[in-house]
Amino acid sequence: MREYKIAAIGGDGIGPEVIAAGLQVLEALAAKDGGFRLQVEHFPWSSPYYLKHGHYIPEGGLEKLKGFDAIFFGAVGSQEVPDHVSLWGLRLPIAQGFDQYANVRPARVLPGVKSPLVNGQGIDWVIIRENSEGEYAGNGGRTHRGLPIEVGTETAVFTRAGVERIHRFAFELAGKRPARHLTLVTKSNAQRFGMVMWDEIFFEVARDYPDIRTDRELVDAVTTRMVLKPQTLDVIVATNLHADILSDLAAALSGSLGIAPTANLNPERRFPSMFEPIHGSAFDITGRGIANPIATFWTASMMLEHLGEPAAAARLLAAIEKVTGSGVLSPDLGGKATTAEVTLAVCAAL
Ligand code: NAI
Ligand code: MG
Repeated sequence: MREYKIAAIGGDGIGPEVIAAGLQVLEALAAKDGGFRLQVEHFPWSSPYYLKHGHYIPEGGLEKLKGFDAIFFGAVGSQEVPDHVSLWGLRLPIAQGFDQYANVRPARVLPGVKSPLVNGQGIDWVIIRENSEGEYAGNGGRTHRGLPIEVGTETAVFTRAGVERIHRFAFELAGKRPARHLTLVTKSNAQRFGMVMWDEIFFEVARDYPDIRTDRELVDAVTTRMVLKPQTLDVIVATNLHADILSDLAAALSGSLGIAPTANLNPERRFPSMFEPIHGSAFDITGRGIANPIATFWTASMMLEHLGEPAAAARLLAAIEKVTGSGVLSPDLGGKATTAEVTLAVCAAL
């Protein structure tokens, strides 16, 4: 029996609700499959925990996480803690500390789900976000606080090593998809240093992948292409900030933030990778039992893929599609189903 150690961090808001639903589906899947078992440990790290203890991750916490095969993460963010404190307190120390530099964000219109686009069926994308440096490198400062001469800087950091490895990852992933097409997104007209370097390194790496079609687009222009000609895109590679924004757009265009999954990968597997829905804490629906768990189920499927259980991953995705296709939809998708009802339907479909 193959066994995987999973660290579950529900976090804030609807995070614990969707992670509980995700684990329920994973248990059902493991029982059905019979070939693998999950050993799950829960970590209470969250904003209430921070308010009580003064930290999100306790001393030695990251060290402890290193012993797991994967991290299954809900969301972090609370109305009682500034967002930059919660994000840098929990999610970023894990993503950066474990060098999870490749953030993979698929987007597709699932059966039964309505895209706000008339040509939404053309959406079948994977957005690859550089996840370790760039605009979110944490390089900046504030001086003369509160004075009229106050200065705030936020300096993007791009390294050749960081850029080259994300491009290589993107080419490898694009090569596994039928379209074999990779679009480079930067802003190298206005930003003439780091972004021009991004472009140059992309075309250097491209020489090693002659069978992959490439093109490039500026980040503002690609938003219009996503909306007007979604079928012309396949895999997109972009910086931390750009891909963060583009993937929220992709989620909305494919029906709802409530279905969009993501994987934060350390491709070399020196550290555990982290799997989470794209959405945040969703204060407006927390505790009401109506959070859409589909994003978390799809995330769980990506986690299984990474763990080396492709058959179970495919089976879970098929069950998700069966359920959305049959009209069991939560309110964000225009339906009436609760989190529990969607979860039970997916378990039954498995
Ligand atoms: P959000 O994703 O929490 O919510 C945006 C909208 O989408 C809300 O109307 C919400 O109800 C809806 N929504 C999100 N997930 C849903 C689901 N599973 N089912 C149904 N509807 C869903 O983004 P927002 O409001 O900007 O942020 C709220 C908090 O979450 C903030 O503190 C923010 O910092 C944090 N956040 C955390 C993230 C993370 O942990 N990776 C990502 C995004 C936001
Ligand atoms: Mg985002």
